[in-house]
Amino acid sequence: MTAPVMVTDEGAVRIIRLNRPEKKNALTLAMYADMAHALSEADQSDAIHCGVIAGVPGAFCAGNDITDFLKASSGGLDPRAHEFLHALARRQKPLVAAVDGVAIGVGTTMLFHCDHVVAGSGATLSTPFLKLGLIPEAGSTLLAPMRMGYARAFSLLVMGRPLTAAEAKDAGIVNTVVDSAEVDATALKAAQEIAALPPKTLAVARGLMRGHLDEVIKQIDTEAVHFRDLLQSDEARTAFAAFLARRK
Ligand code: COA
Repeated sequence: MTAPVMVTDEGAVRIIRLNRPEKKNALTLAMYADMAHALSEADQSDAIHCGVIAGVPGAFCAGNDITDFLKASSGGLDPRAHEFLHALARRQKPLVAAVDGVAIGVGTTMLFHCDHVVAGSGATLSTPFLKLGLIPEAGSTLLAPMRMGYARAFSLLVMGRPLTAAEAKDAGIVNTVVDSAEVDATALKAAQEIAALPPKTLAVARGLMRGHLDEVIKQIDTEAVHFRDLLQSDEARTAFAAFLARRK
């Protein structure tokens, strides 16, 4: 049986592959923990210079597992998703995303933290948080307006209108759009290009470009306070139950 998060190192590149195709790579708590661990471990390794986060064909990530959202709406919120977001924002090594197919919820908001994003031509980015009675997370309420301008960020994050890969490139979230079959290889090539740069100089340049880290962490934490409250609302519970019921 294969693991839902597969971590392999190719030279100086760490590949973190989400691998839960039967659920379109919806993230479980264990997957968040595995991703956080893989990122932190890469930070501590002198041998790793860059990471790639990838999915499976047709599914980069369908967001948080809605079964876990439903559980959290009546029990306490497990900290593992929040810990992953901190690890993602704080990590020292650059991260390239290889996005094929759906990128939903945190599958999209994690892209605002990536240093380089390759998308398949059929990929779609969407954040239906409000339709689920929730608010956008992962610092996206700060990073999305900064990266794509308020008007486009509102349409994506609040109205929940999806972006095609081409629109995401136009909005400055995606670097390169390629055929679906080329996504992983193109992302790996970009990661190898980054990994070949002088590591200390890379760290300095990247650190300067991401100088707003404290502000990002504060935003992640503030969003989380509202997110926890909203998870327990009737609106959210009804939306989670409706999604899960549609399976039957
Ligand atoms: N949480 C839990 N299960 C999920 C999931 C999620 N976020 N996303 C997909 N799945 C499950 C489906 O329930 C289904 O499970 P089943 O086969 O046991 O019934 C399986 O993954 C395949 O999904 P399905 O909906 O049948 O495939 P599709 O191709 O028609 O649609 C999606 C794929 C991703 C567009 C659709 O599943 C979806 O909208 N998922 C919810 C995304 C979401 O709202 N995420 C939270 C954002 S905050």
